[in-house]
Amino acid sequence: MEIVFLIVIGLIVFLVLLWQLTLLLTSMLTSPTVYANDKAIEDSLKLAGLKRGESVVDLGCGNAKSLIIAAKKFGAKGIGVEISPYCYFLARWRVFVLGESKNIKIIYGDFTRAEKYLKSADVVYLYLLNATLAKIEKWFFSSIGPKTRVVSLAFVFPNKKPIKSTETFNLRKKTIARLYRK
Ligand SMILES: C[S@@+](CC[C@H](N)C(=O)[O-])C[C@H]1O[C@@H](n2cnc3c(N)ncnc32)[C@H](O)[C@@H]1O
Repeated sequence: MEIVFLIVIGLIVFLVLLWQLTLLLTSMLTSPTVYANDKAIEDSLKLAGLKRGESVVDLGCGNAKSLIIAAKKFGAKGIGVEISPYCYFLARWRVFVLGESKNIKIIYGDFTRAEKYLKSADVVYLYLLNATLAKIEKWFFSSIGPKTRVVSLAFVFPNKKPIKSTETFNLRKKTIARLYRK
């Protein structure tokens, strides 16, 4: 009996450590996993003029919060791409539990290999660091469609001028969401 208890405890400790390690590694190698506030996401999607039936892509979707808001509040369909195994499973789980599996698809992997989802997207929502946006800028704007509206929360593309912006609140601070086009 004691041995079973020890195995279960050992397994739990192992899973928690694995979870923390994947979070640490993906944060070190990519953009850190910080989830935006609901209000900031909603204001960003409003800025993008997201409408019922349109599609939204979140590159680095974290826990799929933006896609769930897009589906529940805007009636949109969503695709999220996520490289952190922990966030990927969490996003899938949240989408399932919140009954949005029909409207939201979560893809595991590096978003720089996900251009096929960008061409037909009506809206792309981004919450990535300035350094990440600088790295992907050229590839990203050549991958999106001519009509895709791109909204970036808090962070900016270095060489691209936003066509509109709005002030919002994120992580208890005033911040800006910016709208871009190809
Ligand atoms: C700042 S969080 C944003 C989460 C979510 N989009 C939001 O607004 O709350 C950035 C996310 O991007 C993911 N990420 C970073 N680089 C990535 C890449 N190359 N491919 C896929 N996901 C990536 C990270 O794992 C992290 O979950």
